[in-house]
Amino acid sequence: MALFLIIPISLITLLISYNLYYTLRFKLPPGPRPWPIIGNLYDIKPLRFRCFAEWAQSYGPIISVWFGSILNVVVSNSELAKEVLKEHDQQLADRHRSRSAAKFSRDGKDLIWADYGAHYVKVRKVCTLELFSPKRIEALRPIREDEVTAMVESIFKDCTNPENFGKSLLVKKYIGNVAFNNTTRLAFGKRFMNSEGVMDEQGIEFRAITANGLKLGASLAMAEHIPWLRWMFPLEEEAFAKHGARRDKLTREIMEEHTQARKESGGAKQHFVDALLTLQDKYDLSEDTIIGLLWDMVTAGMDTSAIVVEWGMAELIKNPRVQQKAQEELDKVIGFERIITENDFSSLPYLQCVAKETMRLHPPTPLMLPHKANANVKVGGYDIPKGANVHVNVWAVARDPAVWKDPLEFRPERFLEEDVDMKGHDFRLLPFGAGRRVCPGAQLGINLVTSMLGHLLHHFCWAIPEGMKPEEIDMSENPGLVTFMRTPIQAVASPRLPSHLYKRVPADI
Ligand code: HEM
Repeated sequence: MALFLIIPISLITLLISYNLYYTLRFKLPPGPRPWPIIGNLYDIKPLRFRCFAEWAQSYGPIISVWFGSILNVVVSNSELAKEVLKEHDQQLADRHRSRSAAKFSRDGKDLIWADYGAHYVKVRKVCTLELFSPKRIEALRPIREDEVTAMVESIFKDCTNPENFGKSLLVKKYIGNVAFNNTTRLAFGKRFMNSEGVMDEQGIEFRAITANGLKLGASLAMAEHIPWLRWMFPLEEEAFAKHGARRDKLTREIMEEHTQARKESGGAKQHFVDALLTLQDKYDLSEDTIIGLLWDMVTAGMDTSAIVVEWGMAELIKNPRVQQKAQEELDKVIGFERIITENDFSSLPYLQCVAKETMRLHPPTPLMLPHKANANVKVGGYDIPKGANVHVNVWAVARDPAVWKDPLEFRPERFLEEDVDMKGHDFRLLPFGAGRRVCPGAQLGINLVTSMLGHLLHHFCWAIPEGMKPEEIDMSENPGLVTFMRTPIQAVASPRLPSHLYKRVPADI
């Protein structure tokens, strides 16, 4: 009997002492009152970035939110974003790895989940100097142009099919294929899909692995936040081991194909898999790191660009004035005799502003990826203790009326009036983050988004489905780490160029 009482009493005492220690030792940012054990978990609404922005209205631009017993600090204005990502960049550059992230990344042997340290610095150098160098991004351009023109050809086929006359298309389907093929070709040097959209065996396996990864990750969500309760929710070791083995098998198979091809041709290709294998000795990269990096590109690079383009299309369909203005620019600069290429971007300032305005209003990772404090730091006059997670609500920062005029209006012209950097130098606009952990794929993402939007606008007029009003378009987000549209946009496409310009431009690289 005594034992039955001792255990709960000790637990409660331990909890109270832990909370007291935190409250007395640190001056934590204000926030909603946490419940014992679960913290604020049950108060957080599914769209976390919107919920945190609402709380910031009540408690101020820096708040404490308890995910179980783990402290999370959320900052929601540009000054605090600068403190986090510039002034205290190095102390706030670790990552919180859930048990599934730890398993997937072999405890941070990749880039995304690595803590800031010697390994991170080395791998980041490989990214900056080798994988994402301007030379390689340019060398991989034919892949992007191939995929974007394949998208145009496929939309043209569907919208000119008499059976589909006047019907709306699911825009996400076409954009998603570009993102999928571009990322897999860039990273693995493979197009898993044939020109009819049919997936080969490796592609089916690839899709199954990504779907299984999501399922395994989601299965642990709740238990992750209360470390001392984890023994009640043991990790499915076997399922994770099986998943890892399956992922490694497919990746090794592809790596082997590339090694063979290099032996036969005597030269390396530009894809990341070839680059990493040929640089393995120079940078002393383990096989775990190579595999981890390749899959990081899939995790971070595939959905993000597609999400931006889908939101951009929704805004352009909702705002015909902007669509028409972008098309007028394209007609003037490109004309009706040829198609747009990346070389044209510098002559298309309004198109670039459309891409930027979309990323302002709809950053695909609205809370970036959380950073973890590797030391005690002060931000905004409050303490952030070592081990706490820090989120920058870049969605809220980019809609802050204190720094943006008419923040909720989709008005690309604002960037013609004032050129605002979006690659981490201006803390009002941070779709790619900033500082040490800024997205290494930012330029690639911008090129792909601008190219997709440019082609979609130059080749087609986009209209709202018959009988629907612009204000009826559902502009709400789906919950998750990345924000797809809750209701995928549907639109009617009408070709606007001569039909010979709707052919895919295949690239055999
Ligand atoms: C529009 C497209 C994209 C957006 C908006 C975006 C945004 C971001 C953001 C916000 C982060 C987190 C930064 C932080 O932790 O502070 C990130 C990290 C990352 N992104 Fe992107 N990204 C995009 C495209 C890409 C592409 C195309 C790739 C690669 C093919 C890529 C690869 C990565 C990687 C590897 C990281 C982890 C960096 C690290 O932890 O050090 N991203 N991205």
